Amino acid sequence: MMVVDFLVVGGGVAGLRAAAGLAESGRVLVVTKEGLSESNTAYAQGGIAVAMGGDEDVALHLADTIVAGDALVHAQAAAVLVEQGPKRVEELLAWGTRFDRYAADDPARAGALMKTREGAHTVPRILHAHGDGTGWEIAASLLRHVRGLEQVELMEWTTTVELVVDSDSDAGRVVGAKLLDAAGGLREVRAHAVLLASGGAGQVYSDTTNPAVATGDGIAMAYRAGAELMDMEFYQFHPTAFAMEGAPRFLMSEALRGEGAWLVNARGERFMGRYHPGLELAPRDVVARAIAREAIDGPVYLDMRQGTGNREQGTQMDLKARFPGISKFLEGYGLELARDLIPVRPAAHYLMGGIRTDVNGRASIPGLFAAGEAACTGVHGANRLASNSLLEGLGFGALAAEAMKGEVRGSGFEVQGRTEARGDEGGDVEGFIAELQGLMWRDAGLLRDAAGLRRAQDGLAELRERMPQALTRRAQEARNLHAVAQVIVQAALGREESRGAHFRMDFPGKAKVALHSVVERGRLRFVELV
Ligand code: SIN
Repeated sequence: MMVVDFLVVGGGVAGLRAAAGLAESGRVLVVTKEGLSESNTAYAQGGIAVAMGGDEDVALHLADTIVAGDALVHAQAAAVLVEQGPKRVEELLAWGTRFDRYAADDPARAGALMKTREGAHTVPRILHAHGDGTGWEIAASLLRHVRGLEQVELMEWTTTVELVVDSDSDAGRVVGAKLLDAAGGLREVRAHAVLLASGGAGQVYSDTTNPAVATGDGIAMAYRAGAELMDMEFYQFHPTAFAMEGAPRFLMSEALRGEGAWLVNARGERFMGRYHPGLELAPRDVVARAIAREAIDGPVYLDMRQGTGNREQGTQMDLKARFPGISKFLEGYGLELARDLIPVRPAAHYLMGGIRTDVNGRASIPGLFAAGEAACTGVHGANRLASNSLLEGLGFGALAAEAMKGEVRGSGFEVQGRTEARGDEGGDVEGFIAELQGLMWRDAGLLRDAAGLRRAQDGLAELRERMPQALTRRAQEARNLHAVAQVIVQAALGREESRGAHFRMDFPGKAKVALHSVVERGRLRFVELV
């Protein structure tokens, strides 16, 4: 019989790092909806931002994070993030993560970690692995480490459908969750503390760089259980997702621009100079909106044909070696970075908002913790600094684990047997999801106004009447996407200003005071974080 002290939902960087910490204090069950290799973490290309050069470097990382977040970053959370960066990376190195290093034929730097720049970073500080496979490498090494821990049980292909709330406790304590396995069996798992590390919700939009698993499950479950969600209107649109008819919105990493790629419009003009002095490395929201504007007149392209590399040394970068994953993908479409213009357009990429937590991952209801993209500490403010998210998962996953250890009261909980729950999907669940994604993209996407957001609200109200009811993974995902979409639209309508990733065409200016939105049981309010 399996005994559980801690339940972790999600097997990306936040969940796995938390599991590693929790294993020191009890039995940990990690539940993932698909195989453990499938998470937003594994798709992260660019890298992990970290200041390895001492106090001044850490202060600069903090300053860049705050500037990118457009005056909404919770400075305490950001300080906690960047200060623990070097320690978390040292830990990864000890667990076998192989970041890219300079080769022996570069004697001045041989063996040192390679660092690149991305948008809104004032210095190169982004470590990468396998060129553009950083998330995959970190996820694989964390997984190797966690698999070696006797205290950790990994349960794949299992959908967490609902949190279990103890109705006898005054504050509505979360005491476990209901799990649905791939064969349609349902079981309840109890734990001293539950961590939601279930990632983002890119699937709420028709155009996204996120994998199919990113359906906002943890966020929706926490919301239904009564937890506060924060800053849900801040959805980051990555400026450069591949844009070819019929092709997936594959990420064209910001690291391409970090290594010198230009953005050019249909007339062949390098246009970013008209929008921001940082050119192609301006903050991500600025670049995304600039591309959307230029795209009105025709396609926009990434251009690396001019070559890149160390101009002082007269060396050219081998783009296939630096970006093997992207190069392989492009090959499938007959394109090559060094030879062709690469068509790009923005796509939904990262949710800055999520389950409101403190820096220790504590949500607003007892027993419940969240970390990674599912959580919102305020660390990203209105716009996440590129490559801060892997560090976020590691850092806040580790801190959440420490806080969860303090929740243990008595012995662990035996996992109960399963009951048969397979329901008929019933109705057109795929049609429901596609409609929701389309209306969110059209009316609650990169450029917003009250009329569009109200249309989105009406559309969601109409969809609610046709909400899939079955107890199946896909029907559950549809309900989760609907809950997340509703809160995004509510908060976006309430925020009558433009800040970071949230751009209101009818309110293009910024409010004098930067406030965070909080939605709880359908009620929206704005708060200051101190
Ligand atoms: C990228 O490689 O452009 C994505 C990095 C990130 O989202 O932080």
